[in-house]
Amino acid sequence: MRRSLVTALTLAVGLALGVSAAAAQSRQVLIQRGEALVRQNCSLCHAVGREGASPYPNAPLFRELSKRYPVDVLEEALAEGFTSGHPAMPEFTFSAERAAAIVAYLSSIQVDPNARPQRR
Ligand code: HEC
Repeated sequence: MRRSLVTALTLAVGLALGVSAAAAQSRQVLIQRGEALVRQNCSLCHAVGREGASPYPNAPLFRELSKRYPVDVLEEALAEGFTSGHPAMPEFTFSAERAAAIVAYLSSIQVDPNARPQRR
């Protein structure tokens, strides 16, 4: 009786650890896909990494986007057709899956993930 309880507990804990490790791993995969997508599509103008300046003057540093708004709001925009209102920036539309990957990556590099949008 006691032995089977221990076995059951061990199994349950093992399962829970396995599931959260898998979730962490798939998040990592998502972040990597997002990074590849922004390197491909956005790095011509934006600083897309953790350091460096944007090649295009005035294009915001991706790692500081959270100073403008929570980066999650971009997910819907990216999937619906995203423009910055800036003539230099082309319009982008990504599949929902790619938009989620981009946002996962952007969230992962924010210098200040909890920054509040600045008041003007
Ligand atoms: C050809 C250059 C160029 C490319 C390529 C480009 N951007 Fe931009 N982007 C800009 C410029 C310039 C601005 C500044 C617009 C402004 O301040 O009016 C900007 C602004 C932005 C903003 C801020 C918009 C806002 O209203 O706060 C976001 C977010 C953004 N870009 C995301 C992206 C993403 C994601 C990609 C790739 C999928 C991308 N950009 C590709 C030039 C570019």
